[in-house]
Formats: sequence, C-alpha cells, structure tokens
Amino acid sequence: MNELNTRISQIGVVPVIKINDPERDAAPLARALCAGGLPVAEITFRAAGADRAIRAIKEACPEMLVGAGTVLSAEQARAAVEAGAEFIVSPGFSCLLAEACEALNVQYIPGVITPTEYQMVLPYGYELVKFFPAEQSGGLARIKAMSAPFPMFKVMPTGGINLKNLEAYLSCPVVAACGGSYMVKPADIDAGNWDRIMNLCRQTREIVDRVRG
Ligand code: 3PG
Repeated sequence: MNELNTRISQIGVVPVIKINDPERDAAPLARALCAGGLPVAEITFRAAGADRAIRAIKEACPEMLVGAGTVLSAEQARAAVEAGAEFIVSPGFSCLLAEACEALNVQYIPGVITPTEYQMVLPYGYELVKFFPAEQSGGLARIKAMSAPFPMFKVMPTGGINLKNLEAYLSCPVVAACGGSYMVKPADIDAGNWDRIMNLCRQTREIVDRVRG
C-alpha cells in the first residue's frame, strides 16, 4: 500500500466527523482525537464550513492526517484540498470527482458496495475503497464475497461500525481500516464533551492494538 494508506491502516479507525461550529470545536476535538490515539479525521461536507474545520485541525494538530468526507462535487474537493485535506472520500463513485482529485493530486477514496461499482473503479487503480454503508449492506459476509472477484482492493467499511463489531471487522484481512462516527457523536461535539470523545478513542485504540498486534 502507498504511504497514506499505510498510515490509515496503522491508525486502524477513521473518525467520521460533522462539525457544526469549526471555529469553536475543531481544535479541541483534534486534540481529543490525538490524545485518544486516533490522529486522523474524515471531516464531512454535510456541515457547512467543513473546509474551515479542516484548516483549523491542521493548524491545531499538524501531525494529524485529515481528509474530507461526503465530498459530492469537484468544488468541494478543491475547497478541501486548499484547506489542507490529504484525502477525499465520497459515499459513492463519481468519474468527475475521480478526475478532479487526479488534477488536484490528492488521493480519492470512493464508496463502493456492488460488483458493478467495484468494477467501475477498477481502471483507476485505487488500492483502498470505502465500503459504504457496511452493516446495512451485508457487513463482513459481503466484504468477503466481494474480495473473491476483486482481491486487488483493501476496504474501509463505514456505516454501523461500533465498539462491539469493530474487532470482527478489523480481523478481516481485506479490511485496511474502519470508519465510523460512534466516537464523535455530534451531541458530544456540540456539548464539548472532549473527555468522553477521548475515552471512546482510547477504547477504539485498544481494540486496534489487540487485533493488529
Ligand atoms: C459516513 O458518512 O461515513 C457514515 O455516516 C458513517 O457511518 P456511521 O455514522 O454509522 O458510523
């Protein structure tokens, strides 16, 4: 795997984050993630100001790996990269976004779930794809079934991942890392519950370390 994917895989779990108030919350949230042992974030463009959140996180914790999530247009990809995003994630696959990311020289992690989608992204040579929505689409059984015809992909299952099923997902060799929002609930971010977020990250880190040795 390339350097970025290796880093994502070593961290093991990518928090998927919706920040409503980037100026107030991005920096303390970033510090909580790092203190909890998960120095990576997928900042979703579901909230306005996602680019400002990305910039604020990179300023507060430059060592953190920061990507943009729910990127639906080339304009969003450009705004994310200008703010410092190091990877671009979308819920599905878009040729336009693939071309935009190539032009921006940033890694694209498209969402796939069906055989047709796996086959569509194949010519682009991606090592890592987002398997979304994971639990709702058949979970591990489906990931394993898809890896038979498409062994060239590592996946990042996201959707319905939590502290209970994380170990099973991470134990699957096809899974490079998991994504999830369970440790960064919008209510906890809005309330500034940084200790709770840090503790959930620590519990996550323990599971990753146990599975990955
Ligand atoms: C995403 O956009 O990746 C998902 O909303 C994350 O799924 P989860 O909230 O079930 O973890």
